[in-house]
Amino acid sequence: MRTLCPPCRARWRPTVSRSSVFTQGFWLRDIHVPAAIALQRRFKPRPDDVIVASLPKCGTTWLNALTFATMARRAYPPAGADHPLRRLNPHQCLPFLEGLFKGGREAELEVLPSPRLMNTHMPLPMVPSAVPGCRVVYVCRDPKDMAVSAWHFLRRLQTDLAFSVVFESVCDGAVAFGPVWDHVLGYWRASTAMPDKVLFLRYEELLRDPAENIRKLARFLGMPFSAVEDEGGTVDDIVHLCSFGHLKSLDANKTGHLDPLLPVPRDALFRNGASGDWVNHMTAAMASRLDKIVADKMRGTGLTFQ
Ligand code: A3P
Repeated sequence: MRTLCPPCRARWRPTVSRSSVFTQGFWLRDIHVPAAIALQRRFKPRPDDVIVASLPKCGTTWLNALTFATMARRAYPPAGADHPLRRLNPHQCLPFLEGLFKGGREAELEVLPSPRLMNTHMPLPMVPSAVPGCRVVYVCRDPKDMAVSAWHFLRRLQTDLAFSVVFESVCDGAVAFGPVWDHVLGYWRASTAMPDKVLFLRYEELLRDPAENIRKLARFLGMPFSAVEDEGGTVDDIVHLCSFGHLKSLDANKTGHLDPLLPVPRDALFRNGASGDWVNHMTAAMASRLDKIVADKMRGTGLTFQ
């Protein structure tokens, strides 16, 4: 068994993704440890940068698309036939911080014009300069649905993966970038302390009222919708452009793979697009066990998932 990863003194232990290490209180895939170190040492946000942050399987792809469409709406009207989101996967529209920092490609960030939009799955302590150095938009999701979504996603890589393995990892806190509660609470606490720097969103709320959440996002970004935009239906155009059904139908999201290092077909990012699917995968006892673990961790924080 491997013991310590020399640069970070990380502890190794088998998890769902067998190559995970526990470092600075979080489980990271070993390939992301160098990125975590580099981000802490060298990421220098600009004040007008925007970072979309989330745990995997909590609505990252959707929030990437919504934030990109909202920020870029003057250059790319959302109803336009040539909108980048009609020909690119949302992840191709903004850089992934750990992808750049793990590969020594961080200089690519420097040449991007402001305001830059970026994406990360890293817990906040791994990107300490982000708050209050720039603005962060975070999305969380009911951990039960996150577990189900993660299982379906990981099964595209490992077809015999049992749901119970993923479920136990979530309960143990040992999912990539987890524990879930510590990841969520880091951004939650930052959002309550500095609401002008961190916008905390929920996947379930985005589903319930996407238009209202897009308006909230635009206000947070300092670019609220004008009366002319309101009358012209810009918000509804963004809702439609980024909707599950629309994105899923596009060739850019039906073909190709996410990343050479992650040979998952892009269509795996668009599975069900709903909340509450956990009822089809968990017994009542499993659900209440995970709910209780999460509620215990959240107690006294002002954040709940029930
Ligand atoms: P399900 O597997 O429950 O369907 P991430 O982007 O963080 O990997 O999250 C993936 C989850 O978000 C998947 O959940 C996926 O279907 C859902 N999703 C992707 N795009 C979406 C959209 N435009 N609207 C709603 N849900 C979306």
